[in-house]
Formats: sequence, C-alpha cells, structure tokens
Amino acid sequence: LILDGKSYKFPIVVGTENEKAIDISNLRSATGFITLDTGYKNTGATKSSITFLDGELGVLSYRGYPIEQLAEKASFLEVAYLLIYGELPTADQLSNFSNRITKHTNLHENFKKIFDGFPSNAHPMGVLSSLVSSLTAFYPGAIDPDANAEVLDLTIVRLMAKLPTIAAWSYKNSKGQPLMYPKNNLDYVSNFLYMMFALPNQDYVIDPVVVEALNVLLILHADHEQNCSTSTVRIVGSAHASLYSSVAGGINALWGPLHGGANQAVIEMLEAIKNDGGDVKKYIAKAKDKNDNFRLMGFGHRVYKNFDPRAKIIKKACDSVLAKLGVKDPVLEIAKGLEEAALNDDYFKERKLYPNVDFYSGIIYRALGLRTDLFTVMFALGRLPGWIAQWKEMREDNEPIGRPRQVYIGSNTRDFVPI
Ligand code: MLT
Repeated sequence: LILDGKSYKFPIVVGTENEKAIDISNLRSATGFITLDTGYKNTGATKSSITFLDGELGVLSYRGYPIEQLAEKASFLEVAYLLIYGELPTADQLSNFSNRITKHTNLHENFKKIFDGFPSNAHPMGVLSSLVSSLTAFYPGAIDPDANAEVLDLTIVRLMAKLPTIAAWSYKNSKGQPLMYPKNNLDYVSNFLYMMFALPNQDYVIDPVVVEALNVLLILHADHEQNCSTSTVRIVGSAHASLYSSVAGGINALWGPLHGGANQAVIEMLEAIKNDGGDVKKYIAKAKDKNDNFRLMGFGHRVYKNFDPRAKIIKKACDSVLAKLGVKDPVLEIAKGLEEAALNDDYFKERKLYPNVDFYSGIIYRALGLRTDLFTVMFALGRLPGWIAQWKEMREDNEPIGRPRQVYIGSNTRDFVPI
C-alpha cells in the first residue's frame, strides 16, 4: 500500500508504530484493508454521545452526569429520560413522561394465551425476549422505524411501559400465581414490585427501602456504551428493524453468562463456595490455577482496568440495604472475603482484576426477594433506556447497516472432483 509517498506492508497490525504512522481515514478507501479484531476489542464501531467510560480511571457518566450523582440523587425515570432524550427533564417533562408511560402499562389480553404456552420452568429471559418480539405483531405501526416522530415516541413509551409488566407476568406465570394488573397510581418501580409480589385480595405493603435500592440498581445498569447487548441492538436496528425486534435481540445477548447472566453465575458460585465450607483462599488458588476450570465470576471487565465504579456503589448499597432489611446473607461475607483476598494478591493486581457490576448486585436482588433466574431480567429492565437511546441515536445519525468483514483463513481455490 502506498500512502503519502510511503509504502506499507500488509498486514498492518493494530497498535504498531506502522499503524500509528498512517492516516487511518485514508485507509477507509483502501480496498482489501481489514483488521482482524475478533470481539471488537479495539475497533470503535460507532461514535456516540450517550455514555462516557474511562476504563483506566474507573469513570462512568451518562450524557456528562457522573454515575455517582445520578445513583444518589435521580429517579430511574429521570435517568431514562436523560439517556433517551439527551437532557435531564424539567418537572413538567418528567410528569408528562411518567403519565404517558403509566397509560401504556397494560398488555393485550391475548398475551395471557402466549404466557400459557410457555413451560412453567421456562427461563424468564427467554419469555421476555419472545414477548418483546411479539409486541411488533401487536403494534405493527412500529415496524417501520422511519415512521413519524410521534409513532416512534409512542413505541418508546410503550416499550418502557410494558417491559416491567411482561417481566412481572412471566414471573407470576412461572409461579403458577394469578397475574396482577398494573396499579397505575404507583410509581414505575413500585408498580413493578406490586405486579411481581402482590396477590389478589391480600394486602401488599411496598417497602420504601426496596424501592430505593431497585431505583439505584436500575440506574447503575441503564447504559454502558457499546457492550454486547447494546451493539446487538444497534446492529439489528441498523438493518432498519423495529425497536421491539432490536431490543429483543439485545435481551437475548444480555442473557449470556458472560454478559448480564453473570450476576446469576456469581450467586451460584458464591453458594457453591459456601456449601464447600466457605474457604475463600482455596478458591482464590483455584482461580489462579491454569489447570483448574474454576473461574472467579464477577471479576475483571473488558474495559475496566480499575474498579468498576458501579461495583463500588453496589457494594455500599449492599451493606446498607441488607442492614435496613435485617437480612443476613452469608454469601456477602464470602464475596467480601474473595474481594479482599484478590485485591491483595499479585496475580489479580498484575492482571488488574477488580470486582465488576455483577459481583454484588445478585446479593441485593436476593435480599429484595428476587429469584436467581430473575437477576438478568432486572438487568434488562435497567438497560432498556440505554438500548432505546442507542437505537435512536444510531437511526438519527443515519448509520449504515452493520456488516463486519472477515479475514478469510480457509483453503485456496480448489477444483471440484466428482466422487
Ligand atoms: C455492561 O454493563 O453491559 C457490562 O458491564 C458489560 C460490558 O460493558 O461489556
């Protein structure tokens, strides 16, 4: 390749002096130039003005607002508005947003028939993604993402309104309990708790400690730039698929144990350690042993080479929520023991392995009475405004259809010889 009078040899490896010396923008037009980057570790697949994250410093902000401030002072709906529309809402805008969501919390009665078709042991994430997909069938106007702004906004509001109902009804269905219709004088988080835990003809008291804790957890999970599920939402949407179909794709990606499913895996790991006598040192040694299959779940993160700022906030919340609810969970002590042992161990220090968002979140969810297989559902509820914001940004920026190239490593051309 000749550029600016200089010649470069293939392959140009990302991060070498060779690559730094050339103007990358010119390379876009150089046919045949493909960088192998499985997992997009270094490839900026998009530009975005939604979430900033500095993995070296452990800094995270939404639209410029530090995550610590939002988790402490904002409500989940305020943060959702900020992510989706770009600015914090005024009091009027927030109440309008909340009222519009409230109007759409109910599901079409036919949804009950679909629920009945799932086996009672179906994983709620499978149910959630199927039902979000099926919203396209109930609201065909949303199929065309170029529909006018009003239709698009109604689609956004419907999705925000219906996801908690779908999640709560899939839980009720799996428990064999009657479905609870939304109670629209309640706020977003309380309404979800009501649909999950209330029973007909029985008083259900919503604990403000639980509401506050869920509010914080949802905010902390609301966006995280181009993670696996978010880039899935963007890439599905880049084909001009509807918002519902794109978000259903994101839910499926989130379900994986390396992504949102990790907090379920963390609790299962902590339980296994507890049942094996709770010897933290033994498991730290296992995690370091290359010949051992044991993996310390909830530790390390592709982009954080420092503390995941969300993990810090959740750890603090964990202590306070469990104390306020009077819950003693032995796995919290095991988690803290693992963290302390790892942070004082050169193996983990050298590799910059710190607890991530999933390490403590499951412990709070459990204290709030949520079943383990619902942890990822909670992540999805939190991540929804981020997915919506990212989908909307991608469409507004007129991004081209996502279409990764490949580095072909198969056979050279061969002649077909009939048998
Ligand atoms: C997330 O919040 O999406 C997870 O930390 C995963 C990621 O960012 O890659």
